[in-house]
Amino acid sequence: MRGVVLVASPLLLLAGCSRDATKEDLCRVETIDDLDPDPNVVEVELVAGHHDWDPGSGTPIHGVAYNGSVPGPLIVADAGDTVRVHFRNEMTDMETTVHWHGLRIPDAMDGVPAIQTPVPPGGSFEYEFVVPDPGFYWYHPHMDGDQLIDRGLFGLFWVRDPAEPEVDCDLPLAIDDAELDEIGQVVMARGSERHGTHFGNTVFANARIDRRVPIAPGGNVLLRIVNVANARYFDLELEEHTLTVVATDGGWVAPYETRKLLVAPGERYTVWVRGTGEPGRRYALVNWREYVGMMDDDPLGSGPTTVLTLEYGDDRVDEASPVFPAPTLPEAIAGTVAHRYELQEGMLDGKMVFAIDGAVWPDAEPVVLPGNVETTLEFRNATMSRHPMHLHGQRFQVVKVDGVMVDRRAWKDTVDVQPGSKVTVVTPLDNPGRWMFHCHILEHGEEGMMSELVVAP
Ligand code: C2O
Ligand code: CU
Repeated sequence: MRGVVLVASPLLLLAGCSRDATKEDLCRVETIDDLDPDPNVVEVELVAGHHDWDPGSGTPIHGVAYNGSVPGPLIVADAGDTVRVHFRNEMTDMETTVHWHGLRIPDAMDGVPAIQTPVPPGGSFEYEFVVPDPGFYWYHPHMDGDQLIDRGLFGLFWVRDPAEPEVDCDLPLAIDDAELDEIGQVVMARGSERHGTHFGNTVFANARIDRRVPIAPGGNVLLRIVNVANARYFDLELEEHTLTVVATDGGWVAPYETRKLLVAPGERYTVWVRGTGEPGRRYALVNWREYVGMMDDDPLGSGPTTVLTLEYGDDRVDEASPVFPAPTLPEAIAGTVAHRYELQEGMLDGKMVFAIDGAVWPDAEPVVLPGNVETTLEFRNATMSRHPMHLHGQRFQVVKVDGVMVDRRAWKDTVDVQPGSKVTVVTPLDNPGRWMFHCHILEHGEEGMMSELVVAP
């Protein structure tokens, strides 16, 4: 699928000055080159390495990146394509794996160290898989993610639907935070040093603190949002606009309008913005502070923080509203619960730990369930913190929260579970293998809130 999407001009990126950036540049992210002319094969080279990136402050962050770009380059494939990734680890001090968050692919390609031997510095690995479901996904290391993702090692993945509408400005958007010290460097802290979670003092939109998104009065913008932050829940609001949610983790939903949109770590939402604003005006997409846990130590305080600025042009256009494909969601009804997961926190040897079913990863027995059976699972949160729980290799529908039916259905792979609450999901478990189930607050995952689900063939 060669040359489908152009790569942003490197000169503009180097200049670090967005004043002269064209609308086209502002609506685009770095995109990977497809080396295979076969229309059904996407073949790419992906390199993890040390990289200095400028968040827009003029002080480069000494970080890490895929292919020297933060976010890592967008991989674009069509549903059903084979994706072949020649991966190289050029970091000198870390072994690593690449996990394809949300993709239903074979477990051997899932990039978790429980299955794949980590790639040592200087080593390489070939990932190859078929992408079955249209949607917006992301990729990241599955070891020391709390350190590496924070410093820039994550990338974006778009599986196109042949029926997607074309929208004037269609922007994949990684929202993130990090704690920067007085010389502008990412503070490396383990969860145990930060009461279990590590919040940032700086917010980024595609790795910039000053991201602008252009829109024409009467035009349309699509934001494909992923929250790549370690622990921060983003509660987004766009000044004087409503947001229309058209897709989430695993694809299309029946569109709905909302003033505020909560995006937990690891979750994705595709949001359509209709250009109802005034010509020439700017509107901020802000984040409101959201409760995550009792011990939250949030340097951003309680007010709104600007994530990006929506910038109206002067010329009115009269674009039609885009029409999005209908969701493909089988009816899902809660049955007998096949496994009840209990999410726990506590102290072990004087250290804060997070656990599932009394076990602190990796000291945990897998849960084994039969595959290809409609299965009901329950996630119970017995802690004082929220947990965005992520299941690898499968998709599920949330059918009940605290026993109350959920009307708005969607394919999900990550779901927020509130303190004291109980979430019931139904999944076809149609991808046999060994799958991680863990909290996507990266510190919680690293401190033990992870387990393995074996889906028997
Ligand atoms: Cu996005 Cu197991 O991770
Ligand atoms: Cu958690």
